Amino acid sequence: MIPSAFIDELVARSDILDVVSDYVRLTPKGGSYWGLCPFHGEKTPSFHVRPDRQSYHCFGCGKGGGVVSFVMEVENLPYVDALRLLAKRAGMELPENTDYRGRRKRSRLLELNKEAARYFHSQLHSPVGREGLAYLQRRGLSRGIMTRFGLGFAPNSWDSLIQAMGQKGYDKAELLEAGLVVNNQKGRIYDRFRGRVMFPIIDLRGDVIGFGGRVMGDGEPKYLNSPESPVFSKSRNLFALNLAKNTKLGRIILTEGYMDTISLYQAGFDCAVASLGTALTADHAKLLSRFTKEAIICYDADSAGIQAANRAIPLLERTGLKVRVLRVHGAKDPDEFLKKYGPDAFAKLLDQSENYMEYNLRQLQDKYDLNDPVQKAEFAREGAEVISRLDSPVEREVYAGQLAQTTGVGKDALLQEIKRCRSRRFYKAKKQQERRNLTPVNQIQPKARQMRYDNPRSARAEEGILRLLLLDSSLASQVQDLAPSAFSSPVLGKIYDVLLDHLRQGRPLQLGNLEGELSGEQIRLLAGILGQPVALENGAAAMADYRAVLESEQMKQQTTTDEAVLLAARENYRKKKSI
Ligand code: UTP
Ligand code: MN
Repeated sequence: MIPSAFIDELVARSDILDVVSDYVRLTPKGGSYWGLCPFHGEKTPSFHVRPDRQSYHCFGCGKGGGVVSFVMEVENLPYVDALRLLAKRAGMELPENTDYRGRRKRSRLLELNKEAARYFHSQLHSPVGREGLAYLQRRGLSRGIMTRFGLGFAPNSWDSLIQAMGQKGYDKAELLEAGLVVNNQKGRIYDRFRGRVMFPIIDLRGDVIGFGGRVMGDGEPKYLNSPESPVFSKSRNLFALNLAKNTKLGRIILTEGYMDTISLYQAGFDCAVASLGTALTADHAKLLSRFTKEAIICYDADSAGIQAANRAIPLLERTGLKVRVLRVHGAKDPDEFLKKYGPDAFAKLLDQSENYMEYNLRQLQDKYDLNDPVQKAEFAREGAEVISRLDSPVEREVYAGQLAQTTGVGKDALLQEIKRCRSRRFYKAKKQQERRNLTPVNQIQPKARQMRYDNPRSARAEEGILRLLLLDSSLASQVQDLAPSAFSSPVLGKIYDVLLDHLRQGRPLQLGNLEGELSGEQIRLLAGILGQPVALENGAAAMADYRAVLESEQMKQQTTTDEAVLLAARENYRKKKSI
């Protein structure tokens, strides 16, 4: 159990605007901050943060809550881990002792991985590894680079690693947990990596967290990677980021493969990283944005590479990174390009790498046949739409010029079209906003709409009470003697009960410190309630009204119950008489 005083302090120190801004680019607008929802794909912002209420809410997907539930959602963490992350961010230490065993186990696994990396590396330079060394040399790697990346060789045997690690005191269970061995049906274990060149994957702290292993020659699979383990998460780590984070080149190059990254490094581009046999994730993007302002995507030239780039771009952009796309010409990937044309040619490509807009326009262009006047006009129109999304008028001007050149359509005509696209979008957004402002809030919250109240009139008042309490706890004196059982809605009553409890303990009322005591569903409901309009100047009067409504509804309910009891009794009496 984490002491509530600690949670209160932590929540007070974790401003929701700061925290959310780590993940979402927010723009202020009328007391709220709006941005693209991190929980569902969207093009116009329906996600917003209200610093005054320390809450967030998305009209699109219905997610909402306070700072803790935001972290739980966005990082996909359980409650305590979200607190831990926030604590780290706020420079506080989570009071815990239960985690001691977990930490010890973790450090033991990391120790084991390090020993395994040492073993593989030593094998590369022994007679057993001759084949591996020859392979890496054939791929053009120098000894220095092999050492720099800690490359190694896993001998082609069933148990050489098991033996070596056994001598160091590691048992079967630990080897399994680290993913270094595999179980067969009979429960026997054998080395996972056999006859492969080994690429250790090292995290930002310098710990070996996993491996990639490449076959010699043409076997399948070409690359075998460590499975996920307590210390290895593919979606949160990038190969060679431990090196690239120190680059002076001011950008990070994203490649698809270990070999691409290493070749780039050897050629002087010490800023390359690769994902670990999986697609780029939002976590990867976030991670990169901590170390650089500019990401250059340099994937394979094939259609899979183009698709992967298209998926990666929005993820990277969303973190505020400047994104460019570099296309290798005349080679299938950066590694091959460097071999064929050398570092200088690559540097030139790097300079010419297209920014997102150029890349977009060219991708669009590829869909049209510019010899056909009809298609050309269509391309010009679509291009104008793409350009119209740029916020800077200077940039719009520049790209309109470029588009005019490729299409032969006059620049003025294009600028006019761009303007039209912008105003069309502007009015649409404005209409949407107006509709939002006018619609009763319970209708614009799709998730909350599923919430069916037995007594909507009373429930509305109950929601009002919760909202007022959260926004101004001095109003609590007006409802101190109101029992949670007076609420017509059990879930609202439950929330009310928790709020009262906080007040009795003298704890502040904030979404953030309620999140340990309410379910995700309840928090979401509460965030929705909190998001509704309120006039705090008249808080006391409103509170009195809400209470009056609640009590009169309760009375009605009571009367109907009483009547029902009476009726039933009469019925009974009649039955008895007739017998
Ligand atoms: P590639 O096959 O493009 O790798 O896969 P590469 O680096 O160009 O390979 P070389 O040059 O032939 O050695 C790109 C990445 O995809 C993952 C690996 O992370 C690899 O670096 N991959 C590929 C796998 O995980 N498993 C595979 O079987 C193949
Ligand atoms: Mn390759």
